Amino acid sequence: MKSFSYLALLSAIAPCALAGSGVDGVDVLIDIIQPQNSYPQTSDKLIPIAKPAKAEYEYVIIGSGPGGAPLAANLAIAGHSVLLIDAGGDFGHLRERESPALANPSSERNEVSWGFFTHHYENEERALKDRKLTWLTPDGKFYSGQNAPEGSTVLGNFYPRYGGLGGCAEHNALVALLPSKNDWDTIKNVTGDASWDNTAMRKYLKKVEKVEYPLPEGTEGSHGHDGYLSMAINPAGIPAQDVKLMSVFAGAAKAFGVDNSALTAALNGAVSYAQENSIDYETGLLPLNLTTAMQDAMADMLVWDMNNDDPDRDTKKAFGRLPQHMDSKNFRRSTPRDYVYDTYAAKTANGKRKYKLDVALHTLATKVLFDTTGAKPKAVGVDYLFGESLYRADPRAIHTEDGGVPGTVKATKEVIVAGGAFNSPQILKLSGVGPKEELESFGIPVVLDLPGVGENLQDRLETSVNAEFPTNFTRILSCYYLAADGDPCWAQYVDADNTAAEKGTYASNGVVMGSFFTSSYSDDGEHDLWIGGFPALFNGFYPGYSSNAATVANKNWWSWLVLKAHTRNNAGTVKLASTNPRDTPVITFHNTYEGQTKEEADKDIGALREGMRMAVSFFENIPAIDGAASVFWPPKEVRDNDESLDEWIVEEAWGHHASCSNKIGADDDKMAVLDSKFRVRGTKGLRVVDASAFPRIPGIFPVLPIMMMAEKATEDILGAKNPGHCKPRKNKNKNKLY
Ligand SMILES: Cc1cc2nc3c(=O)[nH]c(=O)nc-3n(C[C@H](O)[C@H](O)[C@H](O)COP(=O)(O)OP(=O)(O)OC[C@H]3O[C@@H](n4cnc5c(N)ncnc54)[C@H](O)[C@@H]3O)c2cc1C
Ligand SMILES: *[C@@H]1O[C@H](CO)[C@@H](O)[C@H](O)[C@H]1NC(C)=O
Ligand SMILES: *[C@@H]1O[C@H](CO)[C@@H](O)[C@H](O)[C@H]1NC(C)=O
Ligand SMILES: *[C@@H]1O[C@H](CO)[C@@H](O)[C@H](O)[C@H]1NC(C)=O
Repeated sequence: MKSFSYLALLSAIAPCALAGSGVDGVDVLIDIIQPQNSYPQTSDKLIPIAKPAKAEYEYVIIGSGPGGAPLAANLAIAGHSVLLIDAGGDFGHLRERESPALANPSSERNEVSWGFFTHHYENEERALKDRKLTWLTPDGKFYSGQNAPEGSTVLGNFYPRYGGLGGCAEHNALVALLPSKNDWDTIKNVTGDASWDNTAMRKYLKKVEKVEYPLPEGTEGSHGHDGYLSMAINPAGIPAQDVKLMSVFAGAAKAFGVDNSALTAALNGAVSYAQENSIDYETGLLPLNLTTAMQDAMADMLVWDMNNDDPDRDTKKAFGRLPQHMDSKNFRRSTPRDYVYDTYAAKTANGKRKYKLDVALHTLATKVLFDTTGAKPKAVGVDYLFGESLYRADPRAIHTEDGGVPGTVKATKEVIVAGGAFNSPQILKLSGVGPKEELESFGIPVVLDLPGVGENLQDRLETSVNAEFPTNFTRILSCYYLAADGDPCWAQYVDADNTAAEKGTYASNGVVMGSFFTSSYSDDGEHDLWIGGFPALFNGFYPGYSSNAATVANKNWWSWLVLKAHTRNNAGTVKLASTNPRDTPVITFHNTYEGQTKEEADKDIGALREGMRMAVSFFENIPAIDGAASVFWPPKEVRDNDESLDEWIVEEAWGHHASCSNKIGADDDKMAVLDSKFRVRGTKGLRVVDASAFPRIPGIFPVLPIMMMAEKATEDILGAKNPGHCKPRKNKNKNKLY
C-alpha cells in the first residue's frame, strides 16, 4: 500500500490563500495526476474488468450512471440478455466512495475521475475573470486562479464526472430529492404524454426507494419500501455534539424565520452542564447523552420528510432534513451500482448466474452502428475500444497515445445511450446522428440530421458564501479525510460496535439541513433557491478542490452553498472537438448574458443574489456562544452593493448538474431529440436515458429524477406494444454497418 505522510501531502497541494481580497483567486497549483493516499477497497464484491463476453445481446446499454445502470438491471431481471458498458472500472468499495463525508475526495480519485474542462463563456475576456479558471502550465501542471505562470494556456472550468461503474452517483453529495411538480408536468405538457403527470410519476419513486428513515405517521404509503436504493437521513446526534456547528445551525434558522428558541435553550443548557462538569466542548465533542434536548429541538424545526406528498411541498418555505442515498445501518452510500452488482452476482439454486446481465468495463463505446436499409436507420450494435483510461477526461489518459483493442457487439432489440449530458450527445454525433453541418464538417457520414443533439444544455447556477471562525469545528477536528494514515474518523465509522451517531463524522454527508425557498424572481412560485452548508471551504470546482475543501489542518471554515433551481438558460452546447472518440467534446454553457436575454439573465442573477444575501444573514444571526463568523468570500467590498455582487455571480457562478443536451420534445419541435418514450426521433431501436433527456433542468438535485426516469424507461421498453424495433432479420448479411 502506497501512503503519504500528511505533511508530504500538504506540501504537494498548495494551500488555499483565500483570506485576502481574492485578487489571486483560488490560486492552486497541482499535478495533473494528484498525489493520493490509497487504501484497498473494503470488499472484493466487485465486477471484474472484462470486454463484452458475447457477440450479441438483446439490449446494449452505454453508460452505467443513474440512467443506464438501473435500466440494465431491470431489463435483465425481466429476462432479457443485456450488456452494460462502462469506460471505467468498478470502484464501488473505495473508502471515499462509501463514506458520505468523503464525497468530495471521491470525485477526484484518480481511479475514477473524469475531469472535463468546460467553458462558462465563449467570450475569453469574460471567462478570464473567473477566479477558479484552470490553466495548463508550461511544466505540465494545473494552475487555477488569477495568477497563472507565464506561458500557461487556458483549459477552462473543471467539471468533475465519474468514469466508472455507477456514474456520478458514486461520488455525488448523496442528496436525493424529488423534482418539483412542474418539472414533470412540463414534460407532460410539451409532449402531450399524460404518463409524465407529476402524480403518476410518484410510482417510480416507490419502485426505486427503500426508505430507511422514520416517516411521519400515515405517510408510509407514499414511499417505496423494497426498492434497490436505500434512503436515510444523517443521524441528528452527529452535528449536535459540536457546539459551534449547532450555533451555526441556530443562526441559519433565525435568519430563515424558523423559531430557534428551544434549540438555543438546549444548547445553552448543554454548555452550562459541560462547564459545571469540566467537559471540554471547545476543543472536543459534547457527549452524545448531552445532546438529546438539542436533537429534539432540531426535529421540531425541520420538515421531517422533504420527499413528502403534500400539495404545497414545492412552494412552502422549508427548512428540511435531506434524504440521501445511503443505508441507515452502516451509513454507506447506496446506488444503482449496487443494484447492478447484486443483479450480476445473483445465483440460482444450482449456483448458476440467475440473470443474463453482462457488464463490460474498461470498454469505451465509440459508435452506435445502424442498419440503414429500412425506412428509418435502426440501431443494431455498438463499436468499442477495450482498455484502461482511454477517455481523455481521465487525467491518466491525457498524455497517452491512441490505443485500446477495437471490437463490436450487436444488439438485437435496442441500443440505449446513457453516457450522461456530455457523453451521450458526443456518442450520437460520432455515430452520425446530429446536426448535419457539424457532422459534415468533421467528415462523419450523416445517418440522421438531428439538429437538437448537443443543444439545449442547461445547468444550475451555484455560488457559495464562505467564512472563517476564531475557533474550530470540533466535529471534524480529528478527521484526516483519509489524507493521512490512521484516520480516527474512519476507525470510528467502521467500528461495528458503533451505531447511528456513534459512527461519527463519516456517517453523514455533513449537510445538516437544506433551506428551500422561492425568490422574488420565480415565475411559478416553486422553490428556486436552496442553501445548504458544511464545515469546509468550498468555492467551486477546480483540480484539487476536494483536498483544499476539507483538510487535516484547517478546521474553522464554513461554506454556505447557494443553488439556483429553474434556471432559464438553455443556450449550452456540446460540440465535437474531433472524430477521435477518446477526445472530450467542447462544452460551452454560455452562462448568463452570453446565453440569455438581459431580462432573463437579470432574473436568474437576481434570484441568486437573494440567495447569497440570505446566506450572509445566516452567518450574521449566529448566537454569541462560540465566536463570530468572518465572511471573506465574496469579499466585503463585493457584497457591499448589488451591482458588484451581481458581477461576482456573472464571473463566478458554476454548476454540476449538467442536463438537457438531448431533450425530449414535441413532434413538431425540430430541436427535439427524443420522443416522450426516450426514443431518438427518426430512428428505430435507439433511446437515450440519462440527464440529457430532460427538456428543462429538473428540481434542485437531479439524481433521483434520473433514477425515476430509468424506471419509466424500463416500463416504456418492456410494456410497449411496438417497442420501436423490427423483427430480427433472417439474412443478417443484408445489414449495412457503418
Ligand atoms: C461533485 C458532484 C456532486 C453531486 N451531488 C449531487 C447530489 O447531491 N444530488 C444529486 O441529485 N445530484 C448530484 N450530482 C449530479 C448527479 O450525480 C448527476 O447529475 C447524475 O449522476 C447524472 O447521471 P447520468 O446517468 O446522466 O450520467 P453519469 O452519472 O455521468 O454517468 C454516465 C456514465 O457513463 C459512462 N460513459 C460515458 N461515456 C461513455 C462511453 N463512451 N463508453 C462507455 N461508458 C461511458 C461514464 O463512465 C459514467 O459511468 C453531483 C454531481 C457531482 C459531479
Ligand atoms: C400544463 O398545462 C396545464 C393546462 O394547460 C396548465 O394548467 C399548467 O400550468 C401547465 N403546467 C406546466 C408546468 O407547464
Ligand atoms: C453521559 O454518559 C457518560 C458515560 O459515557 C456518563 O458518565 C454521564 O454521567 C452521562 N451523562 C448524563 C447527563 O447522563
Ligand atoms: C484548530 O485546529 C488546528 C488543527 O488541529 C490547530 O492547529 C489550531 O490550534 C486550532 N485552533 C484553535 C483556536 O483551537
